[in-house]
Amino acid sequence: MKKVLLKDGTPVPTLGQGTWYMGEKRSLRESEIESLRWGIEHGMNLIDTAEMYGDGASEELIGDAIVPFDREKLFIVSKVYPWNAGRRNIFDSCEASLERLGTDYLDLYLLHWRGSVPLRETVQCMEELIKQGKILRWGVSNLDDSDMKELSAVPGGLNCQCDQVLYHLGSRGAEAKLLPWLKEHDMPMMAYCPLAQAGKLRSSMLRDPVLNEIARAHNATVFQIMLAFAIRDYHVFAVPKAGTLKHVQENREAAEIELSEEEMDLLNNAFPKPAHVYGLDMV
Ligand SMILES: NC(=O)c1ccc[n+]([C@@H]2O[C@H](COP(=O)([O-])OP(=O)(O)OC[C@H]3O[C@@H](n4cnc5c(N)ncnc54)[C@H](OP(=O)(O)O)[C@@H]3O)[C@@H](O)[C@H]2O)c1
Repeated sequence: MKKVLLKDGTPVPTLGQGTWYMGEKRSLRESEIESLRWGIEHGMNLIDTAEMYGDGASEELIGDAIVPFDREKLFIVSKVYPWNAGRRNIFDSCEASLERLGTDYLDLYLLHWRGSVPLRETVQCMEELIKQGKILRWGVSNLDDSDMKELSAVPGGLNCQCDQVLYHLGSRGAEAKLLPWLKEHDMPMMAYCPLAQAGKLRSSMLRDPVLNEIARAHNATVFQIMLAFAIRDYHVFAVPKAGTLKHVQENREAAEIELSEEEMDLLNNAFPKPAHVYGLDMV
């Protein structure tokens, strides 16, 4: 599995595993645990979750899925709600996430999106959580380039490791300003919804002739090409969610697909990156 370096130099796999909606249905539990474990065994050992997902049900499912693995082989990411991201709640929120996950520390803790708690206070708390050994590092999610500039101006703000944002072939707004800013500051971007939620976020793209032709040429699915696109640059890693074995296996295979320059030109024509964006896409 190819790697991307976080700001502190820690390597993470270009493809991890998302878990939104996992752990919510008893009937899917076995398949979800099987998929997560297969992914971990095959290099997708970065697992992304949040206190929000199923009100903790996703973290509990992950807690069960990771039992057979050595903790140090895993890279666990969770997120704090914006309204819990201040001194009053963050320490309890983090502790509750750790308990549900059955672990002593998070590899990465993210501010889920920006709320009313001042960034300065969130950064102070994150740094304290590091000192307490509860988290190894912290980052943010859904912050655009202007938020990142503000963050970088608060004490410790440049200790942010990455920004997790919505990014897929049909939604390239992050490329306009945010990604160049992140590159300049050695922070990678973590792509969420890299499959556009199996096309739900932009169903017309699945029928695009260019995308389908490139998929055929690689003997791949359009979803595999979407993943290969998202991680083409060693500055982006992605967390597709797959609750089924077939999907996690296809996603793992996608990490090996290299798109040629000519294919990239065709995709850039069919799905151009915008020159300007006014606010990042979010779900
Ligand atoms: N920070 C944020 O605000 C934020 C927001 C949204 C998401 N996220 C994170 O990002 C992760 C990914 O986003 P997402 O779950 O919304 O959407 P996604 O990963 O783009 O799409 C997930 C959907 O794609 C299907 N799928 C997976 N692999 C596939 C394949 N190879 N071929 C066809 N379909 C496939 C899944 O089906 P099955 O599950 O049935 O296999 C599921 O329905 C989340 O799970 C979460 O961890 C973060």
